[in-house]
Amino acid sequence: SARELHKLVKLDGLSVNLINPEGSSYKVVYADGIAAPNLGKTHTTTIPIAQAVLQSQQVIYINDYASSPQRNIDSIDTDKMGPVAIIQIRSEMGIIGAFSLMRISGAEEFSPDNLHLFLAIGEMVGNALRRSGLFEQAMTRLKQVQALHEIDMAISTSLDQNFSLQAILDRTIRLMEVDAASVLLLNPTTLQLEYKAGQGFFHPRSFEGMTIRLGESIAGQVALRQVRATINDLPSQNEYPIADRLVQEKFTCMHASPMIVKGQVIGVLQAFHRSECPGDPEKIDFLDALAAQAAIAVSNARMFADLEKSNLELQLAYDATIEGWSLATDLRDKETEGHSLRVASVAIKLAELMGLAGKDIVHIRRGGLLHDIGKLAIPDSILFKPGPLTDEEWVLMRQHPVHAREMLQHISFLKRALPIPLYHHEKFDGSGYPNGLTGEQIPLPARIFAIVDVYDALSSDRPYRKAWPTERILEYLKQESGKHFDPQVVTAFLNNFEYLIN
Ligand code: C2E
Ligand code: SIN
Ligand code: SIN
Ligand code: FE
Ligand code: FE
Repeated sequence: SARELHKLVKLDGLSVNLINPEGSSYKVVYADGIAAPNLGKTHTTTIPIAQAVLQSQQVIYINDYASSPQRNIDSIDTDKMGPVAIIQIRSEMGIIGAFSLMRISGAEEFSPDNLHLFLAIGEMVGNALRRSGLFEQAMTRLKQVQALHEIDMAISTSLDQNFSLQAILDRTIRLMEVDAASVLLLNPTTLQLEYKAGQGFFHPRSFEGMTIRLGESIAGQVALRQVRATINDLPSQNEYPIADRLVQEKFTCMHASPMIVKGQVIGVLQAFHRSECPGDPEKIDFLDALAAQAAIAVSNARMFADLEKSNLELQLAYDATIEGWSLATDLRDKETEGHSLRVASVAIKLAELMGLAGKDIVHIRRGGLLHDIGKLAIPDSILFKPGPLTDEEWVLMRQHPVHAREMLQHISFLKRALPIPLYHHEKFDGSGYPNGLTGEQIPLPARIFAIVDVYDALSSDRPYRKAWPTERILEYLKQESGKHFDPQVVTAFLNNFEYLIN
């Protein structure tokens, strides 16, 4: 499974560069892949790339590092480097270094779409770095997240089969210089070709829902025999069931190529002329190439669709990443060790008792594990303060749910887990944060989670107070029913307390 993931990770090297205390040089403290030879090297910060990172730019993209004038000539093996993204690492002290994501020369460029993700990671790494014990874990997480992100992108882009088909039809019309084109896909159960997409038709509606049996009509024969066909005199071919429609479109000539993947036909790509058939065989051959490309696009889309639905390994990899993150939060905040895992498991039990469906439970678990991930952006001086917080400190502390949103919202598989990190400090009477939502405006998973979180917080020692005895906590929860908490949730929690806590 590691190998499989590796194929999907489009990252050929990673380095982390930290500025030395005196500020005039930086050290490569971590490097792997094509960056590995630079591990341990010290470079001067006067080189242009370092200047750029240190001055203003949060992220720098270089599309071809090897030939870039910005390249660090002291680095070893820069010839192999193609697209590079360099991201500032910040902590409360300011910019403390940069990490570089690299792909080999000729590889696909980093997409600026990743900006939020990169910045969130930069911030996370910056905070985590100051605890050297967390350093390696942060790197592992970074790589995992990047891997998952690449898979996600692959899934979301190829999943959209219709989008790929439209792109192929568009290319077919332009490159073949035809007037219209369409794709029919074979339904393996019914053995019928089904019309899936078309461009250039006068009456596109008349083709929707059209099916052709394997072996029948032009497309059906092309699919069955797996060879291309050209029909020059369409108007006189009136024995075909769809002849009327083709005449209506004023088509005079058509080509049809089979879409074949691993010897199996999966559909037919058709191209139509309203003028005479051109006699250029090379151009017609090109339709076969387009059909092959369409076949690959469709089979990729199907593969990823299956993967998303059923690939347990992928799910497990996601969950391992999330647990890694939640561990980072807990590790930083020594007093709360195990807090995230504990509250996630109690919240699941309570959600089940309250009748939430199985499909919601997985998001509650993930949301619970990540609920305080936004605290990674809270300075130690506030998080570990032994006494009460000042007003200014509270302003920052109340930002932690918002930080969580910034970190998680762009990661598509975590979107449905977001309500808990974002709303776990909202209160039923509207006096909570960040939005001051009231009652049922607060998503139910967040209302459920709130009581579990407070119970666990009060039953643990904190830098600013000792743990409360259980009776005192239960009394407090009852007292806050209708104020902090949803009364129905309080009832369910108290009535099932023994089951929930053990
Ligand atoms: P946390 O320690 O995980 O606490 C989560 C929530 O449990 C708190 O959200 C609050 O609703 C409840 N809770 C925790 N401790 C107490 C307590 O001693 N008394 C009461 N009545 N409720 C308590 P809240 O208040 O929004 O705080 C969010 C986070 O802010 C806390 O997470 C903690 O990290 C920090 N924090 C809160 N109060 C203090 C403080 O006095 N000093 C410091 N250093 N940090 C604080
Ligand atoms: C390197 O690690 O030397 C390449 C990227 C950089 O200079 O920051
Ligand atoms: C982003 O667009 O910032 C990241 C998207 C993702 O991780 O799915
Ligand atoms: Fe919180
Ligand atoms: Fe918490």
